[in-house]
Amino acid sequence: MEQLANRQILLCVTGGIAAYKAAELIRLFKSSGSEVRVLMTEAAKEFITPLTMQALSGNEVHSDLLDTNAESAMGHIELARWADAIVISPCSADSLAKLAAGRGDDLMSAVCLAADSKIFFAPAMNQGMWKDKRTKKNLSLLKKPVFHQIGPNEGDQACGDVGPGRMSEPKEIIEEVAKEFSSGLLAGKKVLITAGPTREKIDPVRYISNKSSGKMGFSLAKAAVDESAIVTLISGPVTLDTPERVKRIDIESAEEMKEHVTANLSDIDLFISTAAVADFKMKNAEPQKIKKGQSKNMSLSLEKNADILKHVSDNNPDLKIVGFAAETENMIDNARKKLSSKNLNLIVANDVSDSSIGFDSNNNEVTLITEKEELKIPKTSKEKIARKIVQFISKNIFND
Ligand code: PMT
Repeated sequence: MEQLANRQILLCVTGGIAAYKAAELIRLFKSSGSEVRVLMTEAAKEFITPLTMQALSGNEVHSDLLDTNAESAMGHIELARWADAIVISPCSADSLAKLAAGRGDDLMSAVCLAADSKIFFAPAMNQGMWKDKRTKKNLSLLKKPVFHQIGPNEGDQACGDVGPGRMSEPKEIIEEVAKEFSSGLLAGKKVLITAGPTREKIDPVRYISNKSSGKMGFSLAKAAVDESAIVTLISGPVTLDTPERVKRIDIESAEEMKEHVTANLSDIDLFISTAAVADFKMKNAEPQKIKKGQSKNMSLSLEKNADILKHVSDNNPDLKIVGFAAETENMIDNARKKLSSKNLNLIVANDVSDSSIGFDSNNNEVTLITEKEELKIPKTSKEKIARKIVQFISKNIFND
């Protein structure tokens, strides 16, 4: 199920006989390419052991709300931020009641309160409990867009009763979760993204470049394709694998990047310029390797490269355009100037003087700036930043 590839799923297991089915659910999520972390309530541990869940998921199981170790590593806020989706399966009548009441007195309920991802829950309980009017009232409070109910089914129950309350089968659950991911915030949109550095030739063996790894741009390509966009990625020299379902064009110099961007603009709905394009190139690159010679100094004669982003915005007034601003000082002011001088819908500002974010790091911390809004995304992985940027674009740029 390709919609689930590279998704981060937090599987919450609550107390009920159907807890054993959570083991199969982990297997199905993992074979679809998702990373799974498991959260177990105390009652769940009476039905299936944390060791089983740890072995199947490959990650430590989370249970305690007030655990000093967990708080410093993956406490409830971190878990909530980490999850692309929370799946509560089985979801007991008691857990339903907690969620409906907005309680936060155990790890599962606290994570659900803190999360901004979708919460899928698969109720599992005795048919009498399912039919009880208090359960019905609780259910009425757990609605979309946050809560997504899956099941339950009708049939034989572990207690010998027959009726509604059987947890949906793992296959049904995973299909429902996948369906939610396939609708896609950018469904049908064509997106062109630039990434990585450019290399400006000095002579056949030397060049001018920068530290861009391409990670930010590749993460954006992946986030966009995961939201069902059709993505073309024009990349400078990097060592990254192309995300699935992304068309990649490799270039070296800024001039080549401009050429391929221009050639690929037709029918594009959104252009995102993540690339760290070299501002200068050699006036005349040397055809032969420059000799060291006797002189102690050497100077190169440089000229400005074209500003690709500005060129695109000047020539495509109706295109939605997102630029990045790599700043070392006065980040917000400088980024705002670029937003207006390059006529962009959005600029993503990052502080590239901090080596733990920005160039070549796995993490970033950015501020999204439009004419009307400013939104800071605190330090987290570039994958997560990319997903937030895509969500912002879908909400604020395409739904103006
Ligand atoms: O690749 P990573 O290691 O993951 O690092 C990510 C990043 C730090 C490179 C990325 O987050 C980032 O900030 N990219 C923009 C880098 C940059 O060139 O910023 P700038 O402020 O100099 O340029 C502003 C905008 O104009 C950018 O969108 C840039 O792509 C574009 N530009 C700049 C110069 C030029 N000649 N042509 C352009 O299109």
